[in-house]
Amino acid sequence: EALEFGLDAPFTVEHHDSLDSTNRRARVLAESGATDVVVVADEQTGGRGRLDRTWESPPGGVYLSVVCRPDLSMTRAPLYTLAASVAIARTTREAGVDARIKWPNDVLAGEERRKLAGIRTEVQGETDRVAWLVCGIGVNADATREDLPEGATSLRAEGATVSRRVFVQRLLETFDELRGNPDVVLPAWRDLALTLGQRVRVETPGGEVVGEAVDVEEPGTLLVDTGEGVVRVSAGDCEHLRP
Ligand code: BTN
Repeated sequence: EALEFGLDAPFTVEHHDSLDSTNRRARVLAESGATDVVVVADEQTGGRGRLDRTWESPPGGVYLSVVCRPDLSMTRAPLYTLAASVAIARTTREAGVDARIKWPNDVLAGEERRKLAGIRTEVQGETDRVAWLVCGIGVNADATREDLPEGATSLRAEGATVSRRVFVQRLLETFDELRGNPDVVLPAWRDLALTLGQRVRVETPGGEVVGEAVDVEEPGTLLVDTGEGVVRVSAGDCEHLRP
């Protein structure tokens, strides 16, 4: 099946017309020992986003989940999510659409910086060792803006020049390259980041942090200069503020 798909990366692709959630199916495969399997669906009936939000998944989008068993400590697992966001942004740019990353892993496209794609990673393991990792990627592809949530956009709406199929192939090939090369992920992420140098407000589990986003460091921690010192943020929702 990987061959049929014409994929130049060591993944086996499991394709479904419709699934409740590719992450959910991928978790079942991961629990049974699978690795390097990609679950792809043409639509999802119960797609989930970050922080357990709903991810609208009508036909014509890209919904996929990659099952990996990386040789990585749990603390470094977020690097995989960064790698996925870099892969999405690069593939989008190859398709002729400007794309940048908003911390931690939203891909925004076009002049208006609308949301094109998101990632939901689920990981299981012991402190010093990941057992399995499921990286779930959702990209709006064929939908019109009217069919998408407020502030979102799609490859088609931005005038991308690739089919969904070619997009998925290039995306998986780029993701595979990056995951085998963790040292290039962070510099590549910095180059594509929209957040660095901006004034931000981050809602973290420990409260709100406002200041200038000055850098990102391993494994994806955002450094925010609040004026009273630099705060390290590892999770949260980030809003870019006007200067
Ligand atoms: C976000 O909130 O920005 C992340 C969205 C992630 C959605 C993808 S679609 C494929 C995979 N299956 C899911 O249920 N969620 C992820």
